[in-house]
Amino acid sequence: MKENILIDNNSELTTLQQQARTRHEIEAAITSMFAAEDEGLRAALEAAKQAGLPQIQISPIQGKFLQLLAAMCNAHKILEIGALAGYSGIWLARALPPGGRLISLEVNPLDLLPQLQSEAPFDLVFIDADKPPYPRYLEWALRLARPGSIIVADNCIRGGKAFREPEDESMAGIVEYNKRLAGDPRLVSLALAMDDDYTDGFAIAVVKQ
Ligand code: DHB
Ligand code: MG
Repeated sequence: MKENILIDNNSELTTLQQQARTRHEIEAAITSMFAAEDEGLRAALEAAKQAGLPQIQISPIQGKFLQLLAAMCNAHKILEIGALAGYSGIWLARALPPGGRLISLEVNPLDLLPQLQSEAPFDLVFIDADKPPYPRYLEWALRLARPGSIIVADNCIRGGKAFREPEDESMAGIVEYNKRLAGDPRLVSLALAMDDDYTDGFAIAVVKQ
């Protein structure tokens, strides 16, 4: 009896390991086919590492997904809230047509956002900054958007914590962000697991026409 349980546990573990391996192989294949990093992106990552910045940038699949979304809303003006080392900024800038503009805010975005009202509207807003003010970033994104604009935010799943009672200020910001996004009648929205072995990812919204 005891041996049987052991064998069952073992085969379950083998199945889980195989599934994890499959997920990683799929992600690697999609990355290499659709979202391969070039020298510029790799150099940006290396520079960030050398500078001692945290290695918390988006994945190449997320970078390509931002480009896809930019193309879908014909983005000429993109706003990024939270620049970190500029890795996502490179993906975003490359999605722009000649003459397009990327404005990327770092450090205290809430102090800078009011200055952008004369620049509005933005076609795409990407939020990947400090987490407690996520709901306020959403307010600004909506203020600076147009019908058809796309609003994307990173880290909106967090291993499921984004949908539970928050345990800290950061999670409170993300939980509230998701609630507002999902409940806003002006938006069509969805959280989509695509990063960290499908335990984190973007929340995506489009402003209805
Ligand atoms: C972390 C990841 C992120 O993508 C981010 O924007 C901030 C923090 C993290 O894993 O700590
Ligand atoms: Mg992030």
